[in-house]
Amino acid sequence: MGGNISTLPAKSIQTSLREAQRIAEISSHDELRRQLLLVSSDHQRSATLPSACYADPALFRYDVETLFRQSWVGVGRADRWKSSGDFGTRNIGGVPVLFVRDQGGELRAFANSCRHRGSLLLDGEGNCKKIRCPFHCWTYDLAGRLVFAPRMEKVPDFDPAAHGLTEFRIGLRDGFAFVNLGTAAGGLDSWLGDFSSLHAPWGLTQWATARTREFEVRCNWKSYLEVFNEYYHLPYVHPASINRRYMQPDDADDVCGNFTTQFGATDGNAALLADAQKQALPGAGTLTGRERNGVRYTWVYPNMTFAASPDSLWMYEAYPLAPDRCCIVQTVCFPAETFSLNDFEARTRHYYDRIDAAIAEDIPFLERQQAGLSAFTRQGRFSPLEPSVAKFAHWYAGHLRMHLG
Ligand code: FES
Ligand SMILES: [Fe+2]
Repeated sequence: MGGNISTLPAKSIQTSLREAQRIAEISSHDELRRQLLLVSSDHQRSATLPSACYADPALFRYDVETLFRQSWVGVGRADRWKSSGDFGTRNIGGVPVLFVRDQGGELRAFANSCRHRGSLLLDGEGNCKKIRCPFHCWTYDLAGRLVFAPRMEKVPDFDPAAHGLTEFRIGLRDGFAFVNLGTAAGGLDSWLGDFSSLHAPWGLTQWATARTREFEVRCNWKSYLEVFNEYYHLPYVHPASINRRYMQPDDADDVCGNFTTQFGATDGNAALLADAQKQALPGAGTLTGRERNGVRYTWVYPNMTFAASPDSLWMYEAYPLAPDRCCIVQTVCFPAETFSLNDFEARTRHYYDRIDAAIAEDIPFLERQQAGLSAFTRQGRFSPLEPSVAKFAHWYAGHLRMHLG
């Protein structure tokens, strides 16, 4: 039989292979569509997302090309880049992006890519007066204009004004910064819906960043965000550290906008470990009701999540690097008025201890979850303590189904 195949002209072998691949893709799309239909808006009846969404390279490409490059992506707190020239860098769906506060005080986002031959311009975080490419010294001002390009004066028709950095849309809301690499999505207002009104009690615009750090985790970016937004794992993953602080939470709120949020009352301060409860900082003066004794966990799709407690806000941005690897940026904020307390530094260390302890407990479980995924992983069901994970799953499945057509 092998002889028959080898006698086929090369062109028809290629045609047959393409056809076989096309049929395989269609049937796997049909199977994926069927699985996605099981993810419903009723979280009590919904299936979890298909395992392919966490492991399949084709769906990873969908995540980065569609969710990260064509919608609003949360990039942390705008005050991280306070002064003129403060900059930061991110990999957003495979696109290197830089953020910089310009001389007029405006936060801007640019492709972190030189207009000469594409070199990365800036690394990490820092402050600069100009953005200078290390390769051949093309230099841009903080508004992205090309202001110096050595030996280019005699190059015919070279117009420096046409070679500024590629700029992306930035939006600010309640102290958070968002970037949009695409042109199709609507404005940030319609993306966030009633996000601001739900978070109004915390007065988050007045909160300031005290600490940030960055690390990689060997799991899909969605898994990292999911574990932060569910109470189900607390007694098993955090039995001694934080589990006792959390009481039975409210159900997730019905919201309008691309986010999910869930408030839960706490017994004591959920941002501090048991032996540090006395180190609690004063709560935000804006809080009056139940929010003074609880935490609101919010996930702004696709990639930013935070916990707003009375006295602290801890948050994560997740950036996909591979189907089974993501980069996490952690930020911790406090109400601005707290920063002037004499013992602010000493007391905040207790908050960092709690946040770091919880994450150190979560990460091994996230990596085990990723390691357990295979083509034989069937869809599961959600517990009553995972409504925000279920809401995200429904949102994600709906977008993916639209994409598959
Ligand atoms: S690649 Fe930046 S100056 Fe050449
Ligand atoms: Fe956890």
